[in-house]
Amino acid sequence: MALPRTAHVCQQCGYRAPKWLGRCPECEAWGSLVEETVGPASARTRAPALPATPWPDLPRAESDRTSTGIAEFDRVLGGGLVPGAVILLGGEPGIGKSTILLQVASRLAEDGREVVYVSAEESATQLRLRGERLGVRSSKLRVLAETDVDAAIAASRDARARAVIVDSIQAVRCAELASVAGSVGQVREAASRFVTFAKAEGVPVVLVGHVTKDGTIAGPRTLEHVVDTILQFEGDRHHAHRILRAVKNRFGPADELGVFAMTDEGLRAVDNPSEVFLAERPDAAPGSTVLPAIEGSRALLVEVQALVGEPAQGNPRRTALGIDAGRLALILAVLGRRAGLDVAARDVFVNVPGGIEVAEPAADLAIALSAVSSLTRRAISRHRVVFGELGLTGEIRSVSRVEARLKEAARLGFTSAVVPYSAATAVVPAGLDLLPVRHLLEALDAVGGA
Ligand code: TYD
Ligand code: MG
Repeated sequence: MALPRTAHVCQQCGYRAPKWLGRCPECEAWGSLVEETVGPASARTRAPALPATPWPDLPRAESDRTSTGIAEFDRVLGGGLVPGAVILLGGEPGIGKSTILLQVASRLAEDGREVVYVSAEESATQLRLRGERLGVRSSKLRVLAETDVDAAIAASRDARARAVIVDSIQAVRCAELASVAGSVGQVREAASRFVTFAKAEGVPVVLVGHVTKDGTIAGPRTLEHVVDTILQFEGDRHHAHRILRAVKNRFGPADELGVFAMTDEGLRAVDNPSEVFLAERPDAAPGSTVLPAIEGSRALLVEVQALVGEPAQGNPRRTALGIDAGRLALILAVLGRRAGLDVAARDVFVNVPGGIEVAEPAADLAIALSAVSSLTRRAISRHRVVFGELGLTGEIRSVSRVEARLKEAARLGFTSAVVPYSAATAVVPAGLDLLPVRHLLEALDAVGGA
């Protein structure tokens, strides 16, 4: 069999060069050439031709999902593993990707499925050491300490694997490409071979991808289009909690979220995430508000903290952790103009503790009231939750999923909720008082601030 030829292809204009060049001679882009295989795909990498399927015979994804044995992981996937689905699990080094996937592999194997774990970064001995802490024993779980993609695929096929884990996609390589493991060309070609294998055999494949500090999965932007599902493992390595989020999912809802804790025996699902996020909430401290946020399909209570400093010399500092910096700027401008509060010249820090990101505008009112509470040094009642979008005229706008938010607040024992006026008609759980507000000034009155 002839070796497939490779070429360096400009990712901007498609120019092909036989060897790598720092700059494309055609469109003059720098660093745009990536090594690719060219010419007819070899028989090995081409998927077999399939006939078109009559509509009633189309497979139902729901019926043949495989549970990973870890309910929080299944939830994020949208109900379990789908045959032939390719999942990219991204996250910073040390966050726990190998740990959770070894746990998943072990559960699948205990359920009687053949699983192949391709360990391209760690030796079999290292993997065994981790596995012993996690209580892995099933002989259905096979480990292949190998970096060659075709060898990994061949071994998975020989083992009749029902799931394959590749740890990591940056550490495996295709022999035909001269470039080093982890380069864009290698990562893309390796991923596309695993995709071909997954689709042809109907086997789910999980690829581990390291994420750089700026949040992108190192190198393979293009990977995002090749895979079916992208899961992001987030959280602070120094804290026990980890958040697993689906950022893309062809087989389920995106933005679904699972919460785990890192323990001595690996990652454990957290059954009651709201309790975790509120566990260390200070008692009667100014600058803290509780927000019932919607994360994926469920409501979660999180704390929104703000610290408003003394008027600063020069440019005031604005720091937003866990919320969007643009929204913070907007909220502070509205507090200044519509409520006459002296915030423009002060340093303002906002943080959502617990490593969770709150992207929805429903957080606006919680951010605003935390900032006002910090400024006036008057604490907001411990038993109160707050949500609502803030408009530029200071109006409080309606948000989605009001009843889910109220229900979670009541479940955790909260007794009052400051909500947009439109929420006044919602079904309110027993024990919870609603304080519907039309405007920021009414909200400030309701909490007794400013
Ligand atoms: P790991 O899964 O190796 O991270 P990644 O594959 O994302 O780089 O997890 C690394 C950390 O997890 C490491 O600092 C040790 C810790 N850990 C535990 O706390 N408990 C455990 O049971 C295991 C296996 C790891
Ligand atoms: Mg690892």
